[in-house]
Amino acid sequence: MIAVNNVSLRFADRKLFEDVNIKFTPGNCYGLIGANGAGKSTFLKILSGELEPQTGDVHMSPGERLAILKQNHFEYEDCEVLKVVIMGHKRLYEVMQEKDAIYMKPDFSDEDGIRAAELEGEFA
Ligand SMILES: Nc1ncnc2c1ncn2[C@@H]1O[C@H](COP(=O)(O)OP(=O)(O)OP(=O)(O)O)[C@@H](O)[C@H]1O
Ligand SMILES: [Mg+2]
Repeated sequence: MIAVNNVSLRFADRKLFEDVNIKFTPGNCYGLIGANGAGKSTFLKILSGELEPQTGDVHMSPGERLAILKQNHFEYEDCEVLKVVIMGHKRLYEVMQEKDAIYMKPDFSDEDGIRAAELEGEFA
């Protein structure tokens, strides 16, 4: 669960949020909608910890992890959708890339096999 408690944020002349309270609970899928410039990306930056709110805080249940992709329509154009989703979890993506590169090698040594096994373990 992600709990947002009394979160407020303003940029210079503009108040984006004031005392926002919301719980994102397991098993649900949430969409955040609003006009351009309403503050959707800023709110996601607060959820991910990239930005500190001026009041309030964000709590995640222990053992949970948040993956996030930047809002850039062109950055991932050449990538498969599944890979783009996995990129949201940086370490998972690195592990996947490294093990896939090992499997692509024409010569596969004992060390490669050991490394691939370690990576498979971490990937799982
Ligand atoms: N670092 C910053 N400093 C000052 N103002 C900012 C900053 N980041 C965003 N803003 C302003 O805060 C407002 C909200 O921006 P944000 O990017 O969160 O909106 P959005 O809802 O994601 O918009 P869009 O639908 O275009 O993606 C905008 O007016 C933006 O110009
Ligand atoms: Mg945005």
